[in-house]
Amino acid sequence: MKFKRLGFVFSMVGLTILPLFFLFNSCKHEGIPADQFPEVCFQSEILPIFQNSCASCHGENRNEAGLDFSNYAGIMKAITPGDANKSKAYQAITSTSQLMPPDNALPADKRTLIRLWIEQGAKETTCDTNGNSGTVKSGTLWSCYDRDIQPILMSSCAASGCHDAATHKEGYDFSTYTKTLNALKAGSPSTSKLYRVITASQTSEDFMPPKPYSPLSKAAIDSIYSWIKRGALNEECASPCDTTGTITYAGHVKSTIDLYCVSCHGINSPSGGIRLLTATDVQAVAKTGKLLGAVKRLSGYSAMPPAYALSTCDVKQIELWIKQGYN
Ligand code: HEC
Ligand code: HEC
Repeated sequence: MKFKRLGFVFSMVGLTILPLFFLFNSCKHEGIPADQFPEVCFQSEILPIFQNSCASCHGENRNEAGLDFSNYAGIMKAITPGDANKSKAYQAITSTSQLMPPDNALPADKRTLIRLWIEQGAKETTCDTNGNSGTVKSGTLWSCYDRDIQPILMSSCAASGCHDAATHKEGYDFSTYTKTLNALKAGSPSTSKLYRVITASQTSEDFMPPKPYSPLSKAAIDSIYSWIKRGALNEECASPCDTTGTITYAGHVKSTIDLYCVSCHGINSPSGGIRLLTATDVQAVAKTGKLLGAVKRLSGYSAMPPAYALSTCDVKQIELWIKQGYN
């Protein structure tokens, strides 16, 4: 009898502790299994991240490393379904040596979402919830306010005398993000004043921009459509690295040097006796080979800036500037 009771007590203890052991163990090593999360939507949640943050360099026009992240098929070339750690794209966004986008890590929630999507099988899912009713026009890139929308609004709507801060005709001011929001309903282009006027019949008096300005291009209208449709967010896009044409000191290199070097190589007792204040200064250092050696962090040179590497793009621009003969 006594034995039986002891046995009962032991088995109760075992039953309570063992599962706890497994629970903590599995949490520690694997996290919550991906299939216990709601399915991630490729179309509305994942594709925009790639188009937004990668396609400027890995797209149809530029395809660094031979990768095109502007569509599902292209993205899948860098994905191993079910295994984020083996997926090139996931390795790249979590890399400590060659981070993507260069020097501009995605926020943690986006990285997690991509991980989850891969672990769930990296399917080309579309979702009809949240107002994402599949009406996103084909071929329309995810639009970012700063890169895609603001330039359109500034050049076509905030043109002085119309909807700028000083004039704001009919109460509309398109010179800032916050004020632009007054002219639209996030998620709903068709009920947004901004979208309605740019797509109104050209003979109607609502049509914008009014004569003699020219109508917006189809691409501009599509950008505004998809931007509103996806919530009219104030998102920043990674901008493409400009390595086309002539790289000049004033246009490309100066901003990098001013931002990352002048604090130590300025006018007051410049570090290492190296002054990098003017184009002439920088050119003189470049001619010794030290400038490129330092920013490329080659052995035999002191890596510069000391604490972190410049982006691939910044380095490439400096290299081209030197190669092209210091314009
Ligand atoms: C500003 C331009 C730029 C952006 C934005 C960018 N990349 Fe890259 N990416 C590059 C360049 C340049 C290379 C080639 C680097 C090299 O070979 O040294 C590269 C290479 C890669 C590679 C191949 C790495 C390898 O070891 O083969 C992957 C994968 C990658 N990028 C993923 C991404 C992802 C994912 C994003 C978006 C989250 C992204 N990149 C955004 C410029 C960019
Ligand atoms: C935090 C301060 C600091 C910053 C920022 C910094 N440097 Fe330096 N730099 C130094 C010091 C200190 C030395 C001299 C000691 C050494 O060589 O390590 C030096 C040396 C150098 C040298 C000589 C390297 C050699 O091998 O002889 C070059 C070239 C140089 N810096 C370029 C740059 C450039 C270009 C930038 C910006 C992209 C930059 N530095 C940013 C502190 C800095």
